[in-house]
Amino acid sequence: MLALNQLNQLPEGLVVVSGASRGIGRELVTLLLSSGFEVVTLSRQACNPAENLIALGVDLSDETGLGKAIETLKDVLNGRPVAALVNGAGAVEPLGALIHQSASDLLRALCLMAVAPAQLAAAIAPHMPSGGRILNMSSRSAQSTFQGLGAYCMSKHALHAVSESLRHDLRPELAVAELIPGEVDTGMQASLREPDPADFPLASFFRANRANLIPADLAARFCYWVLTQTTTETFNRSEPWFIYDRAHQPFWVAEGADFPYTAP
Ligand SMILES: NC(=O)c1ccc[n+]([C@@H]2O[C@H](COP(=O)([O-])OP(=O)(O)OC[C@H]3O[C@@H](n4cnc5c(N)ncnc54)[C@H](OP(=O)(O)O)[C@@H]3O)[C@@H](O)[C@H]2O)c1
Repeated sequence: MLALNQLNQLPEGLVVVSGASRGIGRELVTLLLSSGFEVVTLSRQACNPAENLIALGVDLSDETGLGKAIETLKDVLNGRPVAALVNGAGAVEPLGALIHQSASDLLRALCLMAVAPAQLAAAIAPHMPSGGRILNMSSRSAQSTFQGLGAYCMSKHALHAVSESLRHDLRPELAVAELIPGEVDTGMQASLREPDPADFPLASFFRANRANLIPADLAARFCYWVLTQTTTETFNRSEPWFIYDRAHQPFWVAEGADFPYTAP
């Protein structure tokens, strides 16, 4: 752990993480708390109580829920500085052809993965000191489109536009980046394996790729390193941070450990 935590680059303040009740977000919060950060989490299921953790139970997938989440967040922040926002909440549902999805399901996906990150950033940025960071959890689905994942691809493509816009719109002393955590062993991947391949052909790929899944705690180490250990100039970039990038692995993979996972 020491190699991962040599030099904190974040300014003073809390870290806000959406999508922290399970998966990569939960592991990231564990790392942040064990390093002494105070953390506020946002997800429908509130996280288990812990010292220095404020866990808010909120639904970010519609306008009403998002509005309530932002009001509650402002109340708990009570003017305190925020060092970083991690927009991690996401869902692959609804699966299947985009043309078969209802408008309300498409809007929920878009709200969760693009509108909420934009609105949370807008609400939090005024509380960020110079050097504050926004990290958006991206995906290969932000760059390509996959059959049966149309709603997710639409939303992650939109998140990329949100990230670029935030870089244009926010104070220049704030930094924005996207991160692709790779194929990670979480509930999200289980949701991609479970459907009948007759309905969702990519289920066969996700079943076959199971042995190549990155453990969630390892993916979180990469997120933690990007978020807290890179310099502001390095962190702030248009190209997403990519977990399979071998050039960065010596900085965050534990000494002596291996990273045998390959980009599909
Ligand atoms: N796992 C992968 O292979 C992979 C690959 C590329 C990118 N990613 C991205 O990485 C991020 C984390 O993924 P993960 O694999 O850790 O997913 P996960 O285990 O399914 O966790 C998703 C998180 O998002 C929260 N969430 C979902 N719907 C929500 C809603 N309506 N309102 C508020 N929170 C909501 C969930 O909490 P509640 O259910 O309690 O609300 C949960 O904490 C996502 O943005 C995902 O797109 C993952």
